[in-house]
Amino acid sequence: MENIIYTICAKADEASIRQAGQILKRGGLVAFPTETVYGLGADALNEDAAAKIYAAKGRPSDNPLIVHITERKMLDAIVSEVSPQAELLMEKFWPGPMTLIFKKSDLVPYGTTGGLDTVAVRMPSHPIARAVIDAGGGYIAAPSANTSGRPSPTKASHVEEDLCGKIDMILDGGEVDIGLESTIVDVSTDQPMILRPGYISQAMLKEVIGPVEIDRALLLDSSKAHPKAPGMKYKHYAPKADLKIVEGREDEVIAAINRLVEQGNKAGEKVGVIATEETKGLYEGGIVKSIGSRKDELSIARHLFGILRDFDELKVDRIYSEAFDTPRMGQAIMNRLMKAAGHQVISLGEKKDEKV
Ligand code: TXA
Ligand code: MG
Repeated sequence: MENIIYTICAKADEASIRQAGQILKRGGLVAFPTETVYGLGADALNEDAAAKIYAAKGRPSDNPLIVHITERKMLDAIVSEVSPQAELLMEKFWPGPMTLIFKKSDLVPYGTTGGLDTVAVRMPSHPIARAVIDAGGGYIAAPSANTSGRPSPTKASHVEEDLCGKIDMILDGGEVDIGLESTIVDVSTDQPMILRPGYISQAMLKEVIGPVEIDRALLLDSSKAHPKAPGMKYKHYAPKADLKIVEGREDEVIAAINRLVEQGNKAGEKVGVIATEETKGLYEGGIVKSIGSRKDELSIARHLFGILRDFDELKVDRIYSEAFDTPRMGQAIMNRLMKAAGHQVISLGEKKDEKV
């Protein structure tokens, strides 16, 4: 029989953070906000505690966890090598939304790294995250606090939906700022490589350490590719409805989505549309939700996972989304959206993948 745990849901204040620290030190699980998404924390150096994360999330055991720290000097105990490039990146982007992959030291159990000899490390900037990590002993493993395969949580209520009754505590610190998980850069080999795009873009990394490659597998359909970050191979962020991205010139995209919505409605389907502040008034049917403004790409990133959850709740059969190749965060936004859509794209104009 499944083990039901009483989950404490509390506003993050000094007393609840102290209690969270005690739970973590005893090997329990606490969800807390970070600047990217909510994380599900456990003592990273306690293999039994890490094992509980996999059970609560229903996460495949070969998908390694990120170890969260609050100070540079804490890194040396858990890694065996730090390259000069890694030093430069940490200096520039920590604390912040960047995770680095290092060769691990013996202190880090294989239960935390999914059996790998490398370890992912991140130093968040969010004050609640930092207080929880310190209170919990300084080395906190924290994947996103969602059920495996569901969109990552950007609010405490998302964590409650997925993990209530499965973890010890949820600390509510309001809506997160960035809304997409950290950029992951592998610095364990000579050529640094982006394994997951995020707020810290390829161009920002390049400015600090020169050319940085991106794992080409990220650009392919996940059923055909073998990405280097084990977690990137799973169908992820997937809403229950069939999601398709429609790309092309704005007026053509709107006209095509209008036709598709009408077709769906005629067939008795409930159809959702992911639009923007600029375009939401131009759709004629379906359930239209604005993801944010094209003039503020952070607003698009912040609302992506929440909108997918909202459409799940509305039990729509299909969702059509505009594409968001925005200048700075477009790579990260489209990486998550493409995964959510299972790489189903309707391209209008020159490249015609599908006729509408
Ligand atoms: O923003 C974030 O990074 C959030 C917050 C909570 O900090 N955490 C997060 O963790 O996104 P998670 O577990 O959902 O994603 C971790 C990703 C997975 O794709 C995993 O495969 C990859 O990091 N990863 C972890 N350790 C790795 C390693 N040693 N080598 C390659 N990839 C690794
Ligand atoms: Mg995750």
